[in-house]
Amino acid sequence: MQRNDRVNFGSKLGAILAAAGSAVGLGNIWRFPYEAGNHGGAAFILVYLACVFVMGMPIMIAEFTVGRHSKASTGKAFSVLAPGTQWKWIGFLGVLAGLLILGYYSVVAGWTLEYIVAALTGSFVDKTSADFVAIFQNFSQDPFRPLVWLLAFLLFTHFIVVKGVKDGIEKSSKVMMPMLFILIVVLACCSMSLPNAGKGLEFLLKPDFSKVNADVFLGAMGQAFFSLSLGMGCLSTYASYFGPDAKLGKTALSVGVIDTMVAIMAGLIIFPAAFSVGIQPDAGPSLIFITLPNVFQQAFGGVPFLATVFSLMFYVLLALAALTSTISLHEVVTAYLNEQFKLRRSRAAMLVTGFCLITGVLSSLSLGVWDDKILGLGFFDLLDFVTAKIMLPLSGLLVCLFVGWYLKRSLSYEELTNGGLQKASYFPLYMFILKYVAPVAIVLIFANELGLL
Ligand code: PFF
Repeated sequence: MQRNDRVNFGSKLGAILAAAGSAVGLGNIWRFPYEAGNHGGAAFILVYLACVFVMGMPIMIAEFTVGRHSKASTGKAFSVLAPGTQWKWIGFLGVLAGLLILGYYSVVAGWTLEYIVAALTGSFVDKTSADFVAIFQNFSQDPFRPLVWLLAFLLFTHFIVVKGVKDGIEKSSKVMMPMLFILIVVLACCSMSLPNAGKGLEFLLKPDFSKVNADVFLGAMGQAFFSLSLGMGCLSTYASYFGPDAKLGKTALSVGVIDTMVAIMAGLIIFPAAFSVGIQPDAGPSLIFITLPNVFQQAFGGVPFLATVFSLMFYVLLALAALTSTISLHEVVTAYLNEQFKLRRSRAAMLVTGFCLITGVLSSLSLGVWDDKILGLGFFDLLDFVTAKIMLPLSGLLVCLFVGWYLKRSLSYEELTNGGLQKASYFPLYMFILKYVAPVAIVLIFANELGLL
């Protein structure tokens, strides 16, 4: 596709919702609430807010700058902005990370579909805690069933991406994001009206500064990175579809605010319900697929219909959040194949879906029947480790260095002010963060995650 016949998002709202859709995902719902609750409640939230707004926003604006100025997907953008240099590797890193993440992320996303069906068919009614553990283990280790849902989820993603930027990504975000907001508000209100919900609120919101140490700081930064979809070129690919009048600073702020609000609201669903029935919430997949169905069953168990509706709404919420994120991951790779190799969009998307189906199947099997280890990890965990802990911070760091040190300052200024039409009084601070603060912070996250600190 040539630079001038590129499709753009049809509206500024569409652009914001699509980018927010990428950011809001499984990371907001199962990881943030647990991290916050266990690391000092409101104290963690304050640290997290600082990470999002001081570090996350500038990096997001930097990704937007790369995308909109190059008018190319991330795989090509760096070659357009810095032809003949090695900076092109940042783009390849993003494409590869997107491809690898999509495989294992879709496995978990597929589980949400199984749980939607289970909620709908009343399979959770009258079950004990032990039953919920068994249900999850039997399902996730089954060699066949999760693969059906993986395929279904990848096909949903595939068809939306094939429909294109305006009719697929933008339109679906405009439908799914409002649904997601409504569901999350309704669920949070129901959860907070349960008896003893106050204890859960206290767990999430009561500040305990004694728990804030360097580890918490670094954990919050890593979480902010993953949650805002930074370091993978998703947002820079989406920004290549922004119109000339889109305001980069404002869009980044909206995405940051939406993403953070969804994360906090997820905590307002999970903790009041868990504390109301006296169950200590835990982390990760077991929280959303073992603990929560049990919590919902007990919390609303007196009225099985209510428990069913609540569980159903929760898993639909998760599926929507995951889908808007998988779409953005898929788009990074599809757009690259489409632009770089001039493949038709449908063919490019087919290749991506096919590849992710293979990595997804391997990831899923590695949780059950396939117990070989690679570098001491199962395939699923290996993909998670390599992408989230290595590729993501590395490419985030390189983006900071690229925009902070390599790109002309005037080019960044022009993008932020839309050619001088808008004010951007924060520009010197933004550049300072990109040049110095963010790179140092990312190196620290990196070292911490690899256990070097
Ligand atoms: N931000 C998504 C989440 O919080 O679940 C995950 C994600 C999507 C990360 C897209 C990176 C990405 F490029």
